[in-house]
Amino acid sequence: MVARVNTVSFQGIDVKPVDVQVQISNGLPAFTIVGLPDKAVAESKERVRAALHALGISLPPKRLTINLAPADVAKEGSHYDLPIALAVLGAMEILPKEELANMTVLGELSLDASIRAVAGILPAAIYAGANDNSLVCPLECGGEAAWAGELPIIAASNLLDLINHIRGTNSLNRPKAELREQKGKKPTDMADIKGQESAKRALEVAASGGHNMLMIGPPGSGKSMLASALPGILPPLSPREALEVSMIHSLAGSLPEGGLLKTRPYRDPHHSASLPALIGGGHRVKPGEISLAHNGVLFLDELPEFSRGALESLRQPIESRQALIARANQHVRYPARFQLIAAMNPCRCGHLGDSDLECTKAPRCGGDYQAKISGPILDRMDLQVDVPPISIADLSQKMGGESSATISARVARVHTMQESRFREMGADETVSLNAHAEGAVLEAICEMDEEAASLINLAAGNARLSARGYYRTLKVARTIADMEAVSRNSAASLIAKKHIAEALSYRRLPLF
Ligand SMILES: Nc1ncnc2c1ncn2[C@@H]1O[C@H](COP(=O)(O)OP(=O)(O)OP(=O)(O)O)[C@@H](O)[C@H]1O
Ligand SMILES: [Mg+2]
Repeated sequence: MVARVNTVSFQGIDVKPVDVQVQISNGLPAFTIVGLPDKAVAESKERVRAALHALGISLPPKRLTINLAPADVAKEGSHYDLPIALAVLGAMEILPKEELANMTVLGELSLDASIRAVAGILPAAIYAGANDNSLVCPLECGGEAAWAGELPIIAASNLLDLINHIRGTNSLNRPKAELREQKGKKPTDMADIKGQESAKRALEVAASGGHNMLMIGPPGSGKSMLASALPGILPPLSPREALEVSMIHSLAGSLPEGGLLKTRPYRDPHHSASLPALIGGGHRVKPGEISLAHNGVLFLDELPEFSRGALESLRQPIESRQALIARANQHVRYPARFQLIAAMNPCRCGHLGDSDLECTKAPRCGGDYQAKISGPILDRMDLQVDVPPISIADLSQKMGGESSATISARVARVHTMQESRFREMGADETVSLNAHAEGAVLEAICEMDEEAASLINLAAGNARLSARGYYRTLKVARTIADMEAVSRNSAASLIAKKHIAEALSYRRLPLF
């Protein structure tokens, strides 16, 4: 008497099949779960027993053995309750075993037999669809599952409804995929930011090409405000990107109810964030902030206040665009193609360089403070922008300047231009903005005229640009040339001297 139900386990964003097997045999009454369950899975027997009891079903006074195969993969999470309960009902011949054979089941049970939401439904639904299975999930997650395609989905709010559906005595409707308006703070409008024209220009360059940016300036000059305007000028996610981002948020359990994410993620962790919170990992591996910012923005405000370990751990993911978490018995990989925006003061008092306001320790305190940001991290910052104190004359002016809507339309056109160029070149699917280009693709897009070539060579020698610095400058120059082409409504041109000059101006901070 063995009953089987399919469910899944997650390794990064990869979904692995798990076979829940239940056997009822003679012997002393017992309920045992084997197959490397973690604490939450081991406790599921109590929830299953209580949920069945709530429906008036008592377990037979026999030996129940539950095996989660494959036996050597650790099982984490609370989504095993429902497959275990269905397999037990199959073994007790309350549910027909053949009905259970083609279902992938996920869900957590409450003691009163209601079914609670779990993380990871979207990747599980995609997996079920690819394997010709139907998906059984909590009602709350039905909208999320429906984005996975045409597969049959049974979304139930409690175990009784689900049993009746499987036995054919009533039927549950397939949930609908719906896009809900996402809650959250509205981004600052660019028109609300007075003055700071060069910082605004740099922000648009960063948004257009997906470049990293570091803003440095005294307190209250508008750095955090500028960063909070960035989500408003970035175009929405393409359908493919939306699915990728939503998969990660689904695994983290942070997907809004019933929907896909359609706006670009903007993550701004506090500087007390720990290394696992930033990169991912922890006791039960979860995507970190850098993966939650995939295809979007990671904003690190007050950069030098982050712990050194946390900052240095960003070095590798910035380059490889993924977070690789090594654990004793497995490696977990999450995508992490994020744009890093950071802000900092030039020194502890914040007024370094301003002879009226700086403290008595200047300029030594500036050197000490800025030394908290290591050279390699600074080297990865494509745009290093000075945000000076705003003048009273600028402040007393009426609001004006371009609105986020106008800038965002322009940025979207530059994005489209880059995307179609990369697709024409046959570049990898993951390359959609200039910042992502590497190797031969990078060489191909960074063709420049002679004057431009001699300027970058001269600057590379004088400013001792690293190889990375050289290529990052070229990519920024490419973006600036693309922005010019879009504003002129013409096709992309070769990189010219002025584009290189502007890109180089962002390369070195006027520190102290
Ligand atoms: N350019 C500006 N235009 C309009 N308001 C501004 C501008 N700069 C700053 N402000 C006002 O000052 C407030 C503080 O600015 P913000 O938090 O961006 O400063 P900051 O540079 O991040 O300072 P800190 O270094 O202390 O974090 C903003 O909320 C806004 O009200
Ligand atoms: Mg700030």
